[in-house]
Amino acid sequence: MWAGNAWRAALSEVPCGRSAQSVLAQLRGILEREPEGIHRAGTWKSERVITSRQEPHIHVDGVSGGINLCANNYLGLSSHPEVIQAAGLSSVRFIRGTQSIHKNLEAKIARFHQREDAILYPSCCDANTGLFEALLTPEDAVLSDELNYASIIHSICLCKAHKYHYRHLDVADLEAKLQEAQKHWLCLVATDGAFSMDGDIVPPQICHLASRYGALVFVDECHATGFLGLTVQGTDELLGVMGQVTIISSTLGKALRGASGGYTTGPGPLPYLFSNSLPPAVGCASKALDLLMESNTIVQSMAAKTQWFCSMIEAAGFTVSGASHPIHPVMLGDAQLTSHERHLCHWIQLPVVSKGKAQIWVQISALHSEEDIDCHVEAIVEVGRLYRALP
Ligand SMILES: Cc1ncc(COP(=O)(O)O)c(C=O)c1O
Repeated sequence: MWAGNAWRAALSEVPCGRSAQSVLAQLRGILEREPEGIHRAGTWKSERVITSRQEPHIHVDGVSGGINLCANNYLGLSSHPEVIQAAGLSSVRFIRGTQSIHKNLEAKIARFHQREDAILYPSCCDANTGLFEALLTPEDAVLSDELNYASIIHSICLCKAHKYHYRHLDVADLEAKLQEAQKHWLCLVATDGAFSMDGDIVPPQICHLASRYGALVFVDECHATGFLGLTVQGTDELLGVMGQVTIISSTLGKALRGASGGYTTGPGPLPYLFSNSLPPAVGCASKALDLLMESNTIVQSMAAKTQWFCSMIEAAGFTVSGASHPIHPVMLGDAQLTSHERHLCHWIQLPVVSKGKAQIWVQISALHSEEDIDCHVEAIVEVGRLYRALP
């Protein structure tokens, strides 16, 4: 996709010893110039926006677009009446275009995050893969928190950039790695916004530091989108570092549940991979975003329930980990947990977490009632007594 080349061209013009602001400013200028060159060379390929079903004859931008001969729709199942409700497009967007529902949702996501562009993927795992591989070359460096979510780590492994790992949320260690990485062209700091295991949140100093060293910042917001920050945009809003986070990836399958899929959002145009589109679960995500942009009632309810849970569990004598986030692991120290399934929660111990950090992983939702929470606390107290984890 040309956008990937444009990003590359932009980065190759960035001098060493630059600020993140100047990297972005150069990037922006080149991104604006690059399409002109491609137009002049006659190699520009506009994306078709399909406004009808993916049938043999399609409409493009509202008018008849002729016969669709590049759909990979071998069996015609994309327009089969019984499959229609679940069906999406059956070919990659670069070849056969994309649909207006996808474009509309991408625009809505970009608006929600106050970014220029967004690209949908079948999942956030795909979004992460699509981003690092398309964006980074062997001349670049990526600096990754050691406790980043597996899909970030795997996506980084697949890309060709130099890899640095810094200790979890450790600003001093990141600074040492940033100094070492100055010899590379682009430096990208990659972190979860809210970490899914411990519910801890990246400190703003990580973004400030990246900025000071001219590094761009990527944040995976799967555990933040839709409920963290004043207008629930996520960690960057919560921490007041929106201007310092360049690219975000997130999922439609957690707080925006009812949908599935993932996306990247950031300065436009974003690069993307040749991957099939998201099926029209996009309608659910679109509706979920409407609800969140209209009112914060659901989010407030979740926050109040999280607080209620924490106060109850702490009153019972437990230590909970996590920050202002609905993920609140209840720490059980060295307890050797076995099966205890009165409630559907997830216990974690060695080797997944380090010694002394055995925990019951708890995530509160707006759907839980106070009775649910009380009952859950009761069950945890029972487990705590069973494993002698209560003082
Ligand atoms: C931090 C993080 N990133 C990405 C994902 C994957 O999201 P998706 O299911 O959309 O691929 C998860 C899922 O648990 C996650 O916790």
